[in-house]
Amino acid sequence: MRHATIIGTGSYLPDNILTNDDMAKLVETSDEWIASRTGIKERRISKGEKTSDLAYEAARKALQNAKLDAKDLDLIICATITPDSFMPSVSCIVQERLGASKAAAFDLTAACTGLIYAMATASAFIESGMYQNILVIGAETLSKTLDWTDRSTCVLFGDGAGALVITASEQKKGIISVNLLSDGSKQEYLCLSAIPLSNPFVIKEDGIFQPTISMKGQEVFKFAVRSITDHIKTVLLKAAITAEDIKYIVTHQANYRIIEHAAKSSGIPLEKFFMNLDRYGNTSAATIGIALDEMVQKDMLQTGDRIILVGFGGGMTSGAILVEWN
Ligand code: UT7
Repeated sequence: MRHATIIGTGSYLPDNILTNDDMAKLVETSDEWIASRTGIKERRISKGEKTSDLAYEAARKALQNAKLDAKDLDLIICATITPDSFMPSVSCIVQERLGASKAAAFDLTAACTGLIYAMATASAFIESGMYQNILVIGAETLSKTLDWTDRSTCVLFGDGAGALVITASEQKKGIISVNLLSDGSKQEYLCLSAIPLSNPFVIKEDGIFQPTISMKGQEVFKFAVRSITDHIKTVLLKAAITAEDIKYIVTHQANYRIIEHAAKSSGIPLEKFFMNLDRYGNTSAATIGIALDEMVQKDMLQTGDRIILVGFGGGMTSGAILVEWN
């Protein structure tokens, strides 16, 4: 059986750093409040680079690390809720810039779980025998969707991109087990509107419509802890291994306290949970790719290491992937 294995990672963050003290100049907040409630100390905010620019840079680095020519890519999937435009997709823009001349390309929307959904999709394409080499990207410029006067949301998010090159292998390594879920009944927990319906049959709303993220923070918090705990259990069960066999858990980076609670309720030492949210905040579909690339750069992952990637986010969506590192 063919398996999908990760052969390269890349990430890209805008240079512009916005610290908690900087945030306190924009809204009534403090470094103390943000750091103690979330663990976030600073985030990167684009000064003009679009989602496709961040995605392209992360993708370029992932291909370089994988030592793969863009022309050998069969498919590009970009997970994003902040595309440059509805069309062309971010994936098509990146496909052209990379010169990935034979790759199909599409964007995928599963909010902060986007990279997990994209990896699962890539894995299925590879296991079916349809494709050999797939580039998966999570890229966001959430800064353009924030209400910068709402302190309960604007302090949480940042911009960034992470990318992975996934390829077919005959060895039983790489993506070992996958679990995806969605629960539309909780859709009001996290919302970001698109263009409202307006046509000759619908009365137009006055004014310029600027969609911004709204959130029921405490509901999302509880959903996140439950999702992480349940998904870890399920992917371990599917792979017929235990938590002791796992070296690291890389969850979506939203809040230190969410990860702390999830570690406690799953009975797994907190030290196994990788965290970098202090420096980047919540970059939605990008967090897990950025984290993985940082772990690779720090030489934290060796051949045979088993790790679990877990996401949760708007929709509501959630999912996990158990990976044996190549
Ligand atoms: O990708 C998924 C994205 N979302 C998440 O992961 C969010 C999950 N939820 C959370 O992380 C937490 O619920 C938050 C960090 C958003 C909020 O923390 P909390 O401990 O649940 O705070 P809270 O909403 O209960 O608010 C407590 C107080 C309120 O004031 P009062 O009513 O007690 O006087 C808020 O108005 O904190 C106030 N507050 C702030 N104060 C200073 C809310 N935001 C801020 C702020 N600075 N930035």
